[in-house]
Amino acid sequence: MRRFFKVTLMAAATLASATSLSRAGDVEVLHWWTSGGEASALTVLKKDLETQGIGWQDMPVAGGGGTQAMTVLRARVTSGNAPTAVQMLGFDITDWAKEGALANLNDIASAEGWDAVVPEALQKFSKYDGQWVAAPVNVHSTNWVWANKALLEELGIAQPSTWDELVAAMEKVKAAGKTAVAHGGQPWQDATIFDAVAMSTGGPEFYKAAFVDLDPTALGSAQMKETFDRMSVIRSFVDDNFSGRDWNLASAMVINGDAAFQFMGDWAKGEFLNAGKKPGEDFLCFRFPGTQQQVTFNSDQFAMFKQGDAVSAEQAALAKAIMSPSFQSAFNVVKGSVPARVDVPDEAFDACGKQGMKDLAAASSSGNLFGSMAHGHANPASIKNAMYDVITAHFNGEYDSDTAVKEMVNAVSLAQ
Ligand code: GAL
Repeated sequence: MRRFFKVTLMAAATLASATSLSRAGDVEVLHWWTSGGEASALTVLKKDLETQGIGWQDMPVAGGGGTQAMTVLRARVTSGNAPTAVQMLGFDITDWAKEGALANLNDIASAEGWDAVVPEALQKFSKYDGQWVAAPVNVHSTNWVWANKALLEELGIAQPSTWDELVAAMEKVKAAGKTAVAHGGQPWQDATIFDAVAMSTGGPEFYKAAFVDLDPTALGSAQMKETFDRMSVIRSFVDDNFSGRDWNLASAMVINGDAAFQFMGDWAKGEFLNAGKKPGEDFLCFRFPGTQQQVTFNSDQFAMFKQGDAVSAEQAALAKAIMSPSFQSAFNVVKGSVPARVDVPDEAFDACGKQGMKDLAAASSSGNLFGSMAHGHANPASIKNAMYDVITAHFNGEYDSDTAVKEMVNAVSLAQ
């Protein structure tokens, strides 16, 4: 066993060094955008760089939400082969910056005026100790529902706007022999649903107290119990084969009309668009019932790993390209997200994208914008992963709701 472990580690290290031999003039980018919709969006970025003579060395690590990508990143850095640039979320950026691994992007940021156009909520993660360490490419949000329009019409289901309406709708779908909720049983996907259900059940004060402030009273509250109870209700509406399913395959179930709803961040829209589907005609996008005023966001940012003393010309060009307003429009139209800059017009965006931009601005000005727990924007990975464990154990029936609440309090306290 020990020997196997050692050999596996060595194989991983060899693979890591073999894949990192980047030529001068290239950027090697570690990312987890491997689904159809994500790959289409990535092509927009690759093409943009190509026009500037910068080559792209792809380092994709499959696995939604980036859990696996972050494990591979750690192995790469440990073996002295940090990639040039890395897709990263929220507190992961802060954690790497704390280790002194990230290049300082201040010169590009001040030349390009990032301070004036990137909202505070994102700057909190793009900067460490007052220095720019990452370039934000988008803003996603997790509290969305994606629905098959024809199926809802066929079953006479109106767009639900409350939890009770949602439950009634899911019951109708199930009774008709279809899958109500397309879901993939992976911890980050369970947590993505939990984000929306917690916000809907407990409201913004509860969400903030539990996931941002890690207040033990909120973590152990009646609202937390009710959130878990509602997760059990949702569990009763997923199909038998949900375990381990990738998120984009769950999106495909809604796209094909095998399932009615998916509760997922707006990267799901990229899958619908990639399949040639149109918002309002083929599919509906709406906020998870009970969270119409709130936005739980995550922002994909690119951090540049130090290759020498200063940021390299290629890293600087990549950061600049990512932040260009025309690129932010073109990329996010395909990706399903909205721009990370406040000065990008919404003209090129479809109805869901326009709503996303409007919701984000409204939530931000009304104090209803919160970093997503599921996507590393509410608390650091150590705590996020502790929460994942409890949420997934409960979703799979290992804990009842009362036990899950107690475990949540314990897990968070141990992880701090
Ligand atoms: C999120 C990320 C998105 C997305 C999704 C699924 O964490 O922010 O860009 O593609 O994971 O892989």
